[in-house]
Amino acid sequence: MSIAYLNGEFMPLNETKISALDRGFLFADGVYEVIPVFNGKPFRLDEHLFRLESSLEKIKLPNPISPEEWQSIIIDLIERNNAGHQSIYLQITRGAANERNHAFPTTPIAPTLFLMSTPLQIENNQPSPIRAITCDDIRWKHCDIKSIALLPNILLRQQAIEQGAQEAILIRDNYVTEGAASNVFIVKDQVILTPMKNQFILGGITRDLLIELATTHQVALREEAITTNQLQTADEVWLTSSTKEILPVGEINGKLINNGEIGPVFSQMQEHYRQFKSTLVD
Ligand code: PDD
Repeated sequence: MSIAYLNGEFMPLNETKISALDRGFLFADGVYEVIPVFNGKPFRLDEHLFRLESSLEKIKLPNPISPEEWQSIIIDLIERNNAGHQSIYLQITRGAANERNHAFPTTPIAPTLFLMSTPLQIENNQPSPIRAITCDDIRWKHCDIKSIALLPNILLRQQAIEQGAQEAILIRDNYVTEGAASNVFIVKDQVILTPMKNQFILGGITRDLLIELATTHQVALREEAITTNQLQTADEVWLTSSTKEILPVGEINGKLINNGEIGPVFSQMQEHYRQFKSTLVD
């Protein structure tokens, strides 16, 4: 059984217990992070902790722990789970009050801090292009918060699965926002495009890294709005996330992208990503 962390203590995951009055359980009143760990080393940890701080600020929940303390808890948890490749799930909720009330508790309560580790399968070979579908983005206007309220994302991902695809690419007013649990990139005429950060997408850590790498290696990339038509007629489409890294999309709504094959710009950026990663975690 893997080791988890709950409110100051490490324990086997199947022994963790929280109150039914926890506001995370009752209202999804909390935020989370998913931090990838390669060869026992957390990847882009400072960036994840920075985004955590920003999500907490946006839901008006003071961070109970300093970045240094978070780091030491995370390193400890990684080691207790035998290092290797893992993904660390970190969740903070507003805690358990003594009654169910939408308003914040008037007397201070301790937030609930929970972390767990899941083994991470790393694709060492070229990833196979995946199938995606497009769906209406039915979510709210604060998708920049990494909120634990994921019901729309779950329903959208499930819709993709039921249609034989692996991810739902979301469309709001004819513009691409992101995937149900990933960010979207397209390539057209050698230029990489990805939607700019705003309240309708999560500012992905992997997304930011790809932008950084494109800048460093002088690969043309623009952050700008992408229409449904641009998505469907793109030369390449990719998805990014901390646990899936960069994934090529070979088919959208049954129509092939780049003949269902990995494109040249994908291969180029994946190589830059691999090299960057190996300097940090090999
Ligand atoms: N999700 N957009 C959404 C809605 C996401 O849920 C995620 C990641 C991303 C990519 O962000 P990052 O590169 O920081 O992982 C974009 C995580 C992995 C999850 O919920 O499991």
